[in-house]
Amino acid sequence: MTEEPKPEHYCILIADDLPSNLAYFDEALRTFGYRTITAQDGQEALERIAEQVPDLVLSDVNMPRMDGFQLSLRIKKDTRTSEIPVILVTAMDDRESLAKGLSSGVDDFLIKPVNLSELQARVRNLLLVRDYRRHMRRYTTELEEQVAARTADLKQAFDQLKLANDQLRHASLDTIRRLSTAAEYRDADTAAHIWRMSTYSSAIARQLGMGDEFTDAILYASPMHDVGKIGTPDNILLKPGAFDPEEKKIMQQHTLIGESILGDSDHPLLQMARTIAGGHHERWDGSGYPRGLAGEGIPISARVVAVADVYDALTTQRVYKPAWSSEKAFELIRESAGTHFDPRCVEAFLEIRDKILDLQQIHRRKPKDRNLILAKGK
Ligand SMILES: [Fe+2]
Ligand SMILES: [Fe+2]
Repeated sequence: MTEEPKPEHYCILIADDLPSNLAYFDEALRTFGYRTITAQDGQEALERIAEQVPDLVLSDVNMPRMDGFQLSLRIKKDTRTSEIPVILVTAMDDRESLAKGLSSGVDDFLIKPVNLSELQARVRNLLLVRDYRRHMRRYTTELEEQVAARTADLKQAFDQLKLANDQLRHASLDTIRRLSTAAEYRDADTAAHIWRMSTYSSAIARQLGMGDEFTDAILYASPMHDVGKIGTPDNILLKPGAFDPEEKKIMQQHTLIGESILGDSDHPLLQMARTIAGGHHERWDGSGYPRGLAGEGIPISARVVAVADVYDALTTQRVYKPAWSSEKAFELIRESAGTHFDPRCVEAFLEIRDKILDLQQIHRRKPKDRNLILAKGK
């Protein structure tokens, strides 16, 4: 707080029906340096207060028309004046007045005969307390305003960041989709394969009880499962017949090439894509490649994608085989639970059979529509 204001900055209202008392207090307070207003009873005091709000009220108890208690009550009830400290002047040993005064909101008492030094000290203390409270209230209000302003600034900054982040995310996903498509186009598969297997993967993950973050991530990460085929030579990748053991080995390298293409990114989506690229040909019984991982040693994202990827390969026509019916494909997946596939993933897949058939239908439409459907995260 700044230094204490001088007495002339304060105006004190004195209310007393006895002219000699009124003159006595008036003179004393003026001598101390205060400005004063006088009133002969509570009613008149209220009228004076309406004209000019004083900094403190010094009032007698017994007055005609309105006594000191009523006056105090009225002052404290009105929000424009409730902060004004009230001192009541009472007779010695008037315990009843003291109690009544307290319940009327009186701040302090002076006992008759009033000692002038005591009057000066009590007035000064009450004014100090009032100033301090006012200062704290103003300070709190200022603080609240500042907090509100900064919160609004932060919110605005956050919204902008979110917008920028959304745009960046959109751009990243678009890039991922285009790259995944490029890799698949080199294969006998069409781009439609990755759209279908990614939505199947996401649906299986949801059925397994994975949260939004995971189901969303697998939707966008699974299209990159065969990105390593970019590194597979054409004569092997496009070979219509069966592979000899050497060719098979080279073909299987696409999993490890995929891992190294996706690298050591700290982006969760690319981390998941790397896991899927490296693990989607592993088998539950340990007979898969490239590492021969088994059971829960195979990351869950790769176990989910394995089911989705194989189902789509079976139900799609390839140069070396016709498209299987969905019934036949579902049957094979069911039979392969516990050997090729994680039984839990197969169970989830079979539970959402109708959903899978719906997605299969949707993604038979022209590519433009498929883009829209994937963009919406369906
Ligand atoms: Fe693959
Ligand atoms: Fe695939």
